[in-house]
Amino acid sequence: MVRVVVLRWGHRAPRDRRVTTHVALTARAFGAEGMILADVRDESVEKSVGKVVRLWGGSFKLEAGVPWRKAVEEWRGKGGLVVHLTAYGEPLTRQLAGKIRRLNKPVMVLVGSQKVPREFFAETVSDFNVSVGSQPHSEVSSLAIFLDRILGEEWLKKEFERARLKIIPQERGKKVLRLEA
Ligand SMILES: C[S@@+](CC[C@H](N)C(=O)[O-])C[C@H]1O[C@@H](n2cnc3c(N)ncnc32)[C@H](O)[C@@H]1O
Repeated sequence: MVRVVVLRWGHRAPRDRRVTTHVALTARAFGAEGMILADVRDESVEKSVGKVVRLWGGSFKLEAGVPWRKAVEEWRGKGGLVVHLTAYGEPLTRQLAGKIRRLNKPVMVLVGSQKVPREFFAETVSDFNVSVGSQPHSEVSSLAIFLDRILGEEWLKKEFERARLKIIPQERGKKVLRLEA
């Protein structure tokens, strides 16, 4: 599976706490290996995400406070691709998703909260500016669809090691296995 890390930019506490947490949980559930909460730290988001990882397993890493420019430069320096999700970008067609997949490089996905720095659109920062439909909606929905298109069905088969809780899918009702830590 292609390696993916999400960079969340523009988090303002307390108003963005819930959405930033949902960006992280979506990233984790849909197969990303981690999220960078750029430029700021927020203990409440770090705690909520940490709790989900402890209970539901996997090795998702949340790094907070890293300056976005440093994170992007390091990623690109190691040969990674940067994809900026924006309503103003090229539409995420099957062709574009295929092109990104075939490059077979680790992908950093930039998602905003408030208006992002103009530089995010520049070649020095992003290899692709991608829109999930050319209408404004949400960082959570655009991230989910982008990851699904890039990771195919593979993300659905991901195992979350060291889980204490595991859902056993049911036609009706809830069944959760409690495993030894
Ligand atoms: C709620 S939007 C806010 C955008 C901000 N008001 C602006 O004018 O740029 C937050 C983030 O959602 C993502 N987003 C929203 N709509 C999108 C779309 N149609 N395609 C891709 N990403 C989108 C982008 O990453 C954006 O930075």
